[in-house]
Amino acid sequence: MSKLKFVLIGCGRIATLHVIGYQNNPDAELYGVYDKNISLAKKFAKEYNIPKVYDSYEEVLADPAVCAVEILVPHHLHCELTVQACEAKKHVSVQKPMALNLCECDKMIEAAKKNGVKLKVFENFVFYPPYQLAKKLLDAGEIGEPAGLRYKMTNCGLNSQNAPAAKLRAKMANVDEKLETTGWKVDVRSLAWRVNESLAGGGPIVFDDGYHKFSTIMYMLGDVEKVNAWIEYTPVLPGVCQDAPAVIMWKHKNKNVFGVFDVTSADEMYINSKYYTCDERLELTGSRGIIWVTRCTATLLPEIAPVVMYRDGKLTEYWDMPCDWADSFEASTKDFIQAIKDNREPVLNGEKGREVLKFALASIDSSKKKCEIYLDSYEDKALLKRRKFFGMFRRS
Ligand SMILES: NC(=O)c1ccc[n+]([C@@H]2O[C@H](COP(=O)([O-])OP(=O)(O)OC[C@H]3O[C@@H](n4cnc5c(N)ncnc54)[C@H](O)[C@@H]3O)[C@@H](O)[C@H]2O)c1
Repeated sequence: MSKLKFVLIGCGRIATLHVIGYQNNPDAELYGVYDKNISLAKKFAKEYNIPKVYDSYEEVLADPAVCAVEILVPHHLHCELTVQACEAKKHVSVQKPMALNLCECDKMIEAAKKNGVKLKVFENFVFYPPYQLAKKLLDAGEIGEPAGLRYKMTNCGLNSQNAPAAKLRAKMANVDEKLETTGWKVDVRSLAWRVNESLAGGGPIVFDDGYHKFSTIMYMLGDVEKVNAWIEYTPVLPGVCQDAPAVIMWKHKNKNVFGVFDVTSADEMYINSKYYTCDERLELTGSRGIIWVTRCTATLLPEIAPVVMYRDGKLTEYWDMPCDWADSFEASTKDFIQAIKDNREPVLNGEKGREVLKFALASIDSSKKKCEIYLDSYEDKALLKRRKFFGMFRRS
């Protein structure tokens, strides 16, 4: 049987990690790329040995050889490009966050259903092998009944190639910078649209990166009943704010299990990473023990096992698993390919992806309204009519 042919739409920063799931894959082939920046698409195709470069999105969708597209573009385009692809009978994987609001999610879900194609929200954290092991231990009852979850994210980082503001401020604070450069390079164009609310849909931390965390929380402990959040908008560059620090707490549905997710920016902290300089630590408490996952995007604690479990007075370290962040991308791509091949739903389909987005939106709404929000009663807010930068947004 010939291989299924996939096309990447958008050849920016994250596209580089979407290649690995196709390498040496017996079922699928990364057949083509399209980016509105054609020279970038050509460079990308050459670097990764991808046969075809398309001149337009319409050309991709009109190509009968193409089975599916992976949409890797700014958030305001997710809905439109997804619906167009579904109507052309192409399966779709769309990067997180699924869309700007729930109404857009509904249009995407309906388009996929109507045209009989798969819709996957590409969220990779739930495929990260240490998280998968933690989930397996949890479900096997190794720490007893689930009792609570804490998720901690620290971003920025001294000498980081992707936190220009932190670097600048560390310089101003006279911090010793004899440390090696850390993190991968991010083009300024890749950062610019993220601080524009009408293109990104929300802040770069809680709405954008937070989608991973909301998804992982629901993967671990299920649906959420209500949420209460504090989210501060703090200047990172003149006129530009990020949505941190933030503390978000919630209650899971039908059980007395609470959780807390908090984000702290640490400008002068050195965070060792091959990718973004954001470090995550997850703690799951059960009636009998605790599981810690000590890394994900970055590796702040390389001497500590990726997964550690405490039970009955003893610590067990789990080292034997792949734990590079890229491993989660490879597994997530394989889920998309397999879902098409086996005619099954992807792990995070449109409906589930919508619930994750609702958790994020309700958290932001809670912070704005200074009250708890029940997810079942959350409704979309009107979209912004004009482009606003977060910095300007806070002053108006
Ligand atoms: N899973 C993760 O951990 C992760 C990490 C980073 C980004 N992302 C997500 O991936 C997506 C892309 O992010 P990025 O960091 O690669 O952004 P980026 O800005 O680096 O790349 C986006 C690319 O899309 C292209 N583009 C814009 N409009 C287009 C259009 N109409 N048609 C075709 N191409 C178009 C741009 O030219 C650019 O090359 C976003 O949804 C983002 O949230 C996910």
